[in-house]
Amino acid sequence: QELQMNLEQIEKGGYDHFMLKEIYEQPSVIKDTYRGRLHANEGIIQMAGVEDNLEKFLNADRIIIVACGTSWHAGLVAEYIFEEFARIPVEVEYASEFRYRNPIINSKDVVIAISQSGETADTMAAIKLAKEHGAFVFGVCNVVGSSISRESHAGAYTHAGPEIGVASTKAFTTQITVLTMIALRLAKAKGTLSNSDFHMYLQELEIIPEKVREALETNERAKEIAATFKDAPNCLYLGRGYNFPVALEGALKLKEISYIHAEGYPAAEMKHGPIALIDDQMPVVVIAPKQGHYDKIVSNIQEIKSRSGRIIAVVTKGDTQVRELADYVIEIPETSDALSPLITTIPLQLLSYHIAVMRGCNVDQPRNLAKSVTVE
Ligand code: G6P
Repeated sequence: QELQMNLEQIEKGGYDHFMLKEIYEQPSVIKDTYRGRLHANEGIIQMAGVEDNLEKFLNADRIIIVACGTSWHAGLVAEYIFEEFARIPVEVEYASEFRYRNPIINSKDVVIAISQSGETADTMAAIKLAKEHGAFVFGVCNVVGSSISRESHAGAYTHAGPEIGVASTKAFTTQITVLTMIALRLAKAKGTLSNSDFHMYLQELEIIPEKVREALETNERAKEIAATFKDAPNCLYLGRGYNFPVALEGALKLKEISYIHAEGYPAAEMKHGPIALIDDQMPVVVIAPKQGHYDKIVSNIQEIKSRSGRIIAVVTKGDTQVRELADYVIEIPETSDALSPLITTIPLQLLSYHIAVMRGCNVDQPRNLAKSVTVE
């Protein structure tokens, strides 16, 4: 028994929980994921699975992304990135819906399946269906040799290492890293990004691990804010553009491990419903980095403030405008709008983690949830 406990302590590498360890591993696993693939100085992205099938990607009428849970959120981020960088239309589908709705799929479609475990039953069924219709299936999996990676025609692994915590953290950021590299490779082939933007994104992606490390320094701040809001019954997460999926993911992390009811919403859509929930008891987490739709999000924050909502804002270092309106700010380093999800996600993971710990929840194995869902 004692030996067992010691082994677990060693596996957690000095952290109290696997989730925290995995959050802190992100700078190094993002690097592992782009190592040998991203050559910023040479202006090259090299991924065998993409290179060998470049024509299929370039001839695709559209890309359909299928996934579940956090992987589906990574797919939503990828939708924005692929459309912006490579100008290829993208649809993102819950695998469970896709497989049962007689979807229109043809042989010029590229289907990207995203799955940490590579074993999710719905995602597996979705790619089988796509293959039956002649589509080209590309897997983005973490577990090497997993069912989805074997069933796909080609793929690219994330190199996040084993993810033990049920709530996915490092799998999410490494999935976004892989998908961003694919989009950049296609953009280069299609000439849809200017040369200078292409090189800027490569350089920026290369230094992202350093910025993630800086974003991890918000840990103490996240802990303070967690102590204030740990007893909240509800929480709203808002973001726009690239950070709309981050709002969804932030809310998912909170509900999964702390059992606080949380909703993620596109900030502008708030006025069509969730705004009715806002009062002086309601914490609202707003992702408001300087790049992107800053002025728009500032006016969304004003709308929350005028209804006495309690605002927790994730802002770019040095921000003054949001600071004046928000009750709490969490400062993160600046990056380009498209890459910002890799940074803005970090404090949200930490916030959920600390709230769950303070509520005495089983962070690594939340009730009713499984790490990989191999049945329907
Ligand atoms: C489960 C896990 C989630 C994960 C989802 C999809 O619900 O608890 O963390 O995001 O399955 O899993 P996959 O392995 O396909 O990414």
